[in-house]
Amino acid sequence: MNLSDFLNQSCATLNHSSQLSELILSIAEAGKQIAALVAKGKLAGVSQQLNSINVQGEAQMQLDISSHDIFIDCLSSTKVVFGAVSEELASPHYFSDHIPDAPYLVCFDPLDGSSNIALDGVVGSIFSILPAPPNAVRSDEIFLQQGIGQIAAGYVLYGPATMLVISAGAGTHAFTLDPDTKVFELTHPDLKIPAHYPEFAINASRQRFWEAPMQQYIADCLAGEEGVRQCNFNMRWMASMVADIHRILMRGGVFLYPKDHQVTDRAGRLRLLYEVSPMGMLIEQAGGKASTARASVLDLQPLQIHQRVPAILGSINEVDLIEQYHQS
Ligand code: AHG
Ligand code: MN
Ligand code: MN
Ligand code: MN
Repeated sequence: MNLSDFLNQSCATLNHSSQLSELILSIAEAGKQIAALVAKGKLAGVSQQLNSINVQGEAQMQLDISSHDIFIDCLSSTKVVFGAVSEELASPHYFSDHIPDAPYLVCFDPLDGSSNIALDGVVGSIFSILPAPPNAVRSDEIFLQQGIGQIAAGYVLYGPATMLVISAGAGTHAFTLDPDTKVFELTHPDLKIPAHYPEFAINASRQRFWEAPMQQYIADCLAGEEGVRQCNFNMRWMASMVADIHRILMRGGVFLYPKDHQVTDRAGRLRLLYEVSPMGMLIEQAGGKASTARASVLDLQPLQIHQRVPAILGSINEVDLIEQYHQS
């Protein structure tokens, strides 16, 4: 089944408007265009760092900006989006030519894993679709919605194959881009994360900045069969949340970017609206769990559009255990 047929079918079953299908197809189109740039590598002329700095203080790559522009163009073609928040833009973008009372807001990370661009490593794009409030006015506040209210979320992985992974509230489903037909085909319906898989993903170079419970949890994993966990753990880190979450959706384990007292006053590194919240929905719709280590990600009330939060996402038993470490 291709993406278009899948969306028509699931919008009907889930009582979503066909406008949602149109919107997700526009994001899939953005994914195809970005995939084409990524596949050309340095030949596309987008792998260089620019002099500009984004609102998070990160140096921007040309591909960050090109991907942002592609997203805005594709969203613009739908006429159903009131406004969008992007990692690469300090304030929201509003679509003035869209239908009155356009029903959706979109938060997106146009290019995730920017440090991988110059070395031909795996990168991705992440998106979250929220309802626009009735009679929405242009303000940051309309985007400050709990993740539990997301209408849909997903990512595109620009890996050896380009894949689109989405949830519209009835499971998490993965599609593979056929490079011959340029059509996304459903290849991994209804992903299920095992409750336990002994593998974790964390940037261990930041260990000295973690809180004590996180230090203890990782130490206990590293102690292996001889330690309290009585289990040998493996470790993987791709430096792209999309790639790391994708592996967890495919085989289980846990992804961690915890509180870190060197990064923005201990909040964590990753951004709630366009990284942690959409990934949280995909993980929970696949039977996993998304936590800050102390609270459910999807229950958080955002305070700012570029807010950062700690992110602990993956196999449910492991995330439960990490929360227990933080209760004592
Ligand atoms: P982005 O490239 O969109 O700014 O996000 C990068 C994020 C995320 O993809 C990844 O998990 C993490 O940063 C990598 O962090 P380290 O630099 O600490 O490895
Ligand atoms: Mn960035
Ligand atoms: Mn990112
Ligand atoms: Mn990014």
